[in-house]
This record gives sequence, C-alpha cells and structure tokens, in this order.
Amino acid sequence: MNISPDKIRHFSNQLLMKVDVPQEEAEIITEVLLEADLREIHSHGFLRLPIYIERIQKGMITNKVDINVEQENPVLALLDGNYGAGQVVAYKAMEKSIEKAEESGIGLVAVKNSNHFGITAYYSLMAAKKDKIGIVISNVSPLMPAIGGAEKVIGNNPISIAAPSTEGDPIVLDMALSNTAFGKVLFAKEKNQSIPEDWGVDAKGLPTTDPDDVINGGFLSPVGGPKGFGLALMAEILTGVLSGGHFSKMIPSMYDLNQKQSISHFMLTIDIKQLVPLEIYYSGIKQLVSYIKNSKKAAGTDQIYLPGEIEFLKEKKNLEAGVPMEEQTFHNLNELAKNLGVEGLNV
Ligand SMILES: NC(=O)c1ccc[n+]([C@@H]2O[C@H](COP(=O)([O-])OP(=O)(O)OC[C@H]3O[C@@H](n4cnc5c(N)ncnc54)[C@H](O)[C@@H]3O)[C@@H](O)[C@H]2O)c1
Repeated sequence: MNISPDKIRHFSNQLLMKVDVPQEEAEIITEVLLEADLREIHSHGFLRLPIYIERIQKGMITNKVDINVEQENPVLALLDGNYGAGQVVAYKAMEKSIEKAEESGIGLVAVKNSNHFGITAYYSLMAAKKDKIGIVISNVSPLMPAIGGAEKVIGNNPISIAAPSTEGDPIVLDMALSNTAFGKVLFAKEKNQSIPEDWGVDAKGLPTTDPDDVINGGFLSPVGGPKGFGLALMAEILTGVLSGGHFSKMIPSMYDLNQKQSISHFMLTIDIKQLVPLEIYYSGIKQLVSYIKNSKKAAGTDQIYLPGEIEFLKEKKNLEAGVPMEEQTFHNLNELAKNLGVEGLNV
C-alpha cells in the first residue's frame, strides 16, 4: 500500500508528541524515517517507530533532547547526547559540523551517548545540500565476529559520504559494513534458498550457505572479509573510542528494553570552496560522472548508476505515488496508535 507523505508525517508526529516528544524534535525524527521509506530503505523507516516509542516510554531514550557540549574549538566539538533520540542528536550535531566548516573550512563533531539514528545519508546530505562534503559514521550494537572469531564483537557500523554535484542529485554512498542485511537472510530462509558463502557464518564461525545456520546462533559477515572488518573496527574507533563513549560489547541491542544504548557518531564536514574554487570542484565532478556514466556497459546492463542514484529515483517516484508500506508495518503502527489514543492511519 502507499500512503501520502503528509498523512504519515502528521500521524508520526502525533504519536511522538503523545509520548511527550516536543514538536520540533518529533518533526526531525519523522522526517528521517520518512526519507528512509521514500528511498525504500524500509528496514530504517516507520517500521522502527514502535520500538523508538517503546524505548522512550521506558526511559531508555529521553523524550527531550538535552545536548551537553563538553569540548569545543573553531574546528571541532565533543557532544554528550544524554540518551536523546538519535535522529535529533545527530541532526543538531551535523548542524554544528556544517557551521564550523562554514567558519573554519572543516568541522568535526564527535558525539557520545546518543541513540540509533536511522539512515546515515540523511545527515551527510545535509552538508551536500550546502556545497559541502559530509562524512558521517555511527556505531551500533555488535552483530559481527572478528575475522576467525565466533562471537559478536563489532557492529555493521554504517558509513555515509555525500558529495554535491551539479550533474543531478548529490553523490551519496550510504552503507552498512555487513555484507548483507539480516532481513535478506530471513528472506532466503522463507523462500527455502541457500545463501552465498560470504553472507554469514555459523555459530562456530565457519562459512555456511544455509540461512538457518546464520539465524540460529550464527553471525553476519563483514563486507569484503578482512577489509570490511577493518573498516568496521576503524568506524568503532572514530565513533565510540574517539568520543570517550561506548563501543563494541558495551552497546546492548535496541530491542533490549532494560538498557540504554549509548551510541556514538562521527560527523565531518568539508567546505569545498575554502580548499578549491567551486567551479574547479564541480567541473571535476562533471568529468568524473561522465567517465563513470558513459563507461562501456557489461552485457545485459542498460544503465550505470552512481551511489545514491537508485534511492533518489525511488524517492522521486514515491513522493508522487505515496510512501510504500508493508501490511505488517501498517498494522503495527495502527495498534500503537490505538494504545496511545491517537487517530489511526488510513490509506
Ligand atoms: N543507524 C544504524 O545503526 C544503521 C546500521 C546499519 C545500516 N543502516 C542504514 O541502512 C541502510 C542500508 O544499508 P545497506 O548497506 O544495506 O545499503 P545498500 O547495500 O542497499 O546500498 C549501499 C550503497 O550502494 C549503492 N548502490 C546500490 N546498488 C547500486 C548500483 N547498482 N550501482 C551503484 N550504487 C549502488 C547505494 O546507493 C548505497 O549507497 C543505509 O541507509 C544505512 O545508513 C543504519
């Protein structure tokens, strides 16, 4: 089913305000979730709203953000998110990173004690929309073993880099560092299919093609083997370790309703024009895009896409067609609305 963006926007804001989230903050959380569903990254869209609200109700996410600036100079800042909603803390941290870049050419903001912030591209794109390059990293609770390990010690920590372009939308890489999403393993099991050997390992840490082995005590594997593991480890250092926050096994799952999560973020903005004139940057982008887009295609390929391009195409389509939503997500949201005394969502 498809739901009009305005309808779901209003509905989500009402639900969040019902659990005492201030309107301005509810609107930020809603926009990040909406952007995920419009881009068809449904794993990080309104499907997550019930768990966020449950965590707010249990006091695991504070309902009003109260950021403490612990350290600051013209190019960097360290923020304590005080367990506020990840979307709001990250949004405000990115605003600060952009402000610093505007003043000093570069702005690095490290954040500790935040929460799950949804799609990483939302924040890197804030910089790209202002002629700047944005680099955003977050850690998450551990999901993957080390190479040769058989215990979860590292998150599939997402990284996004967004670069402005005059050749269309910004070029935005937005990726988790596991080879695949857990949802895809569940999907393979449902369809009775085997999975590629590099998707996951069994409980003993050994490669498997049986989705059941990954689901029952096994683990997702890092993208690109040791290289992805190395990137995920460095992401953990740039977020949790660098901010003096939590990392690896210190971070409980967001589905553990009895513990605060304490997620850390890294937000870096580069003001291009303070390094090279924008004309030079944009003429380089134009040339690079032309090399890539006009390169010889493999047999059977009609079009070559840039990172983020497919998601932008989906977003444009869905802004017209409405936000695509699974029956189950629709049902769960309406159950939540009933419990909170908010008018239900209708198609
Ligand atoms: N907040 C968190 O804790 C957390 C954790 C994990 C993932 N996430 C989010 O989950 C989302 C999904 O991550 P993912 O790794 O599954 O993404 P993905 O594998 O769908 O895409 C990764 C990247 O590859 C690009 N891409 C895909 N197909 C392409 C093609 N044919 N040509 C060129 N580029 C292509 C995409 O544009 C994207 O930039 C992201 O938004 C990420 O930020 C968030």
